[in-house]
Amino acid sequence: MLVRSKILVAIAVFAVALSCSREKTESGETYLEVPRHFPSVPFPEDNAYSDIRFELGKKLFFDPMLSIDSTISCGSCHKAEFAMADAFAISPGVEGRLGHRNAPSLLNVAYQPYFMTEGGLPTLEMQVLAPVQEHTEMDFNIVLIAERMKTSNSYVEMSQEAYGREPDPFVITRALANYERTFISGSSRYDTYQFYGNSGALSPSEKRGLSLFRSEKTQCSVCHSGLFFTSYEFENNGLDSVYSDIGRMRLTGDSADEALFKIPSLRNVEYSAPYMHDGRFATLEEVVEHYNSGGANHPHKSERVRPLNLTQQERIDLVAFLKSLSDPSVQMDERYRVK
Ligand code: HEC
Ligand code: HEC
Repeated sequence: MLVRSKILVAIAVFAVALSCSREKTESGETYLEVPRHFPSVPFPEDNAYSDIRFELGKKLFFDPMLSIDSTISCGSCHKAEFAMADAFAISPGVEGRLGHRNAPSLLNVAYQPYFMTEGGLPTLEMQVLAPVQEHTEMDFNIVLIAERMKTSNSYVEMSQEAYGREPDPFVITRALANYERTFISGSSRYDTYQFYGNSGALSPSEKRGLSLFRSEKTQCSVCHSGLFFTSYEFENNGLDSVYSDIGRMRLTGDSADEALFKIPSLRNVEYSAPYMHDGRFATLEEVVEHYNSGGANHPHKSERVRPLNLTQQERIDLVAFLKSLSDPSVQMDERYRVK
């Protein structure tokens, strides 16, 4: 009896955690779900959320005609089962071409103040142009994508309904960005524990991992801070003494920014292996081992990254905590997959 009521309480609390505010649209239905403990999603004035914009954005996101030879879609490298990232260290683009960076998770991307590893793009609308034109990704041209869309009745009708105009770069960038802003994930066990008062949602090992993560000893939470586990700053976390990727310096040209990379969110990190800007670590155990060792010495390495002397149990606890940030509901969510 006692066990059963405990289970019921657990289910009730979990149900609370999953309750989301739904923003009403004219049709009364919506694909946009925001957990109660998340801020509202910042949609720009010229691109407010609507279901038809979502539907058009989703159709485009999974359509390989966005690439020059119609083989690669956005969804080829950003997949629901990997937290809208990919399982390759470097994902192949058209003709199997390889770039230099690991595809990041797009979950909660709407809340980021800027995009890409060096932070060079201020809006999701502008970001669309990067993969479309990139030689190692889609190697195409947004004007020609619009021409392809005009040969499809459903694209023409959806563009008219969503934005009151024919398919064009405005429609393509707006619809994709509108869709990406619905990639919201906040239903991990950590959320249930932290925001809905269910102290049983984390195991003793995960709780110890959380304390370690927030401790003076590791300082993880100084960089991976706040609701999304990132301060959005640019830092060097000691991967190499010489970097082949110059990181933020690519954008600013300033040698003070050499080998600084955007601090990534750690939500759903379990699903988005491999890790770091080049996908060098296959597992979270390897990541924790990296931090434990203090990393390689680079002149720009943060002083917070230094040998930690963690016990084996502490390393296990840290990894356990990182996995409590997983939200399994995204993986099967039909909003983020092609049927
Ligand atoms: C060939 C694989 C590939 C394809 C195709 C691809 N991406 Fe990406 N995406 C990446 C990689 C790699 C990065 C990281 C680039 C960087 O930071 O330099 C990225 C970064 C992003 C970001 C920035 C995320 C952040 O945290 O700053 C967004 C948004 C995004 N992609 C959306 C899209 C959209 C929309 C499309 C389709 C138009 C698309 N991607 C197609 C691999 C891909
Ligand atoms: C000085 C700031 C800083 C500190 C302290 C720090 N990190 Fe990081 N972390 C970063 C940066 C920057 C990256 C991305 C580096 C890259 O892309 O090459 C990163 C990447 C990661 C990743 C990989 C994420 C991904 O999607 O690839 C994990 C996991 C991680 N950190 C966990 C931790 C843990 C656990 C600690 C504490 C032991 C910690 N970090 C301490 C700055 C920091």
